[in-house]
Amino acid sequence: MTELKRTKIIDILQSEEFGKTVNVRGWVRTIRESKNVAFINLNDGSTIKNIQIVVNLEEIPEQQIENIHSGAALSVTGNLIESPGSGQKVELNAKQIILLGPANPDEYPLQPKKHSLEFLREKAHLRFRTNTFGAVTRVRHAMIFAIHKFFNDKGFYNIHTPIITGSDAEGAGEMFRVTVLDAKNPPLNEDGSVNFKEDFFGKETNLTVSGQLEAELAALGLSEVYTFGPTFRAENSNTSRHLAEFWMIEPEMAFYDIHDDMDLAEEMLKYLIRYALDNCQDDLEFLSKRLQDEDKNKKQEERSFMELIEKLKFVLENDFERITYTDAVNILRDSNPNKKKKFQYIIESWGADLQSEHERYLVEKHFKKPVIVTGYPKEIKAFYMKLNDDDKTVRAMDILFPGIGEIVGGSQREEVYNRLLKRMREMNVPEKDLWWYLETRKFGTVPHSGYGLGFERLLQFITGMGNIRDVIPFPRTPQNAEF
Ligand code: 4AD
Ligand code: MG
Repeated sequence: MTELKRTKIIDILQSEEFGKTVNVRGWVRTIRESKNVAFINLNDGSTIKNIQIVVNLEEIPEQQIENIHSGAALSVTGNLIESPGSGQKVELNAKQIILLGPANPDEYPLQPKKHSLEFLREKAHLRFRTNTFGAVTRVRHAMIFAIHKFFNDKGFYNIHTPIITGSDAEGAGEMFRVTVLDAKNPPLNEDGSVNFKEDFFGKETNLTVSGQLEAELAALGLSEVYTFGPTFRAENSNTSRHLAEFWMIEPEMAFYDIHDDMDLAEEMLKYLIRYALDNCQDDLEFLSKRLQDEDKNKKQEERSFMELIEKLKFVLENDFERITYTDAVNILRDSNPNKKKKFQYIIESWGADLQSEHERYLVEKHFKKPVIVTGYPKEIKAFYMKLNDDDKTVRAMDILFPGIGEIVGGSQREEVYNRLLKRMREMNVPEKDLWWYLETRKFGTVPHSGYGLGFERLLQFITGMGNIRDVIPFPRTPQNAEF
């Protein structure tokens, strides 16, 4: 038989060319045998759906399929036939089966049954072959593509901001150091501190926590830009919403005030949800069923806010509620869980930082839709945010989503040189490291704004996955950098 070109399973399943000979390649999900016939479900990742391969044991010698088990890789050539059963409309009548890569059933960790997500995290090298992780990965790709499309269609330029940096953009001091110095025996200054002048860059450097500061430089020349890159935070938060390495989308726009900023963020989030609904239907339907099954084993109060697709449509169809931090604190102070001390952190007074339990109360219980909170106290926000005339609050905006809490954090930036300098000094942000950032406020400064969308938190929302470790292929969390 001459070598046929491979056809993807997604294309075959849509084909109606019955009788045609095609070749498919992929990994066996299941195989079952009855007297004269065997059925193999094959998947190649092009779709959540498998193609069923019918092996007539009078045509194909049984030895050829003897060593085929779940996880094996096959190349199958056969004829397309109309499927008699329900489900798919096509199946493949095998003419030739080549075992490309066997998988010993005594050793292969993925059995044709449901595995827990925790178990699959330990098998991250193989979990791409599962329905759930395949679906998440395809949705992740679709969202990456849609983000670039959204900004490209609006005339934004994509900027690659540096990953190795000498500055702490968020001023939170949660950075991973980048060094080539000998950890055991570093060069020292006379006072005993490490002499970073002898390090690779001649100064102390870290992995970036945000591309914002550099994106601002670009916006103050190109008007509308965005970065979409990896960011790194050495915060020891072992939660279902924190990663030490995550991806962030950070648009930065000259001539935008905080209201323009919120409008853009809301438009973008809705665009991405619409894109997912329009382009990831099969995967979302699967993920929705998965979530419903998972919810069955949960207590009422721990179940999902809504069915997945219904939830996505709901967010699409409703305006986000816009409130001030002061409103939020008043609502929370008067709320039942606060009065009954059900919150882990009780909101006593204005100035308290909002925890994820508070954010989720506002979204899921009080407003029952996404909420944008503005006007946070300056003490709990970063140095670059524009101070309001009250001298107490900054022009910040956080977008809070059901099941997630904060999904976007952004602000109008302080564009007035003296006011920025004052904030930096008050907050002990080293001026000398950020001389270039300050200088943009000296030459042609303009009002500008931006925000950061946590890409994995967006994916958690779209896919309904409860743990952030299950929406990134190789999660980095405290005590965990396997794979
Ligand atoms: O609120 P953050 O810290 O804002 C910034 O970094 C700004 N420089 C953004 C900007 O204005 N350009 O982070 C932005 C978003 C959060 O809302 C959250 O969605 C996500 O990034 N995020 C994380 N996601 C996963 N793991 C973590 N450890 C995260 N920390 C923040
Ligand atoms: Mg934030």
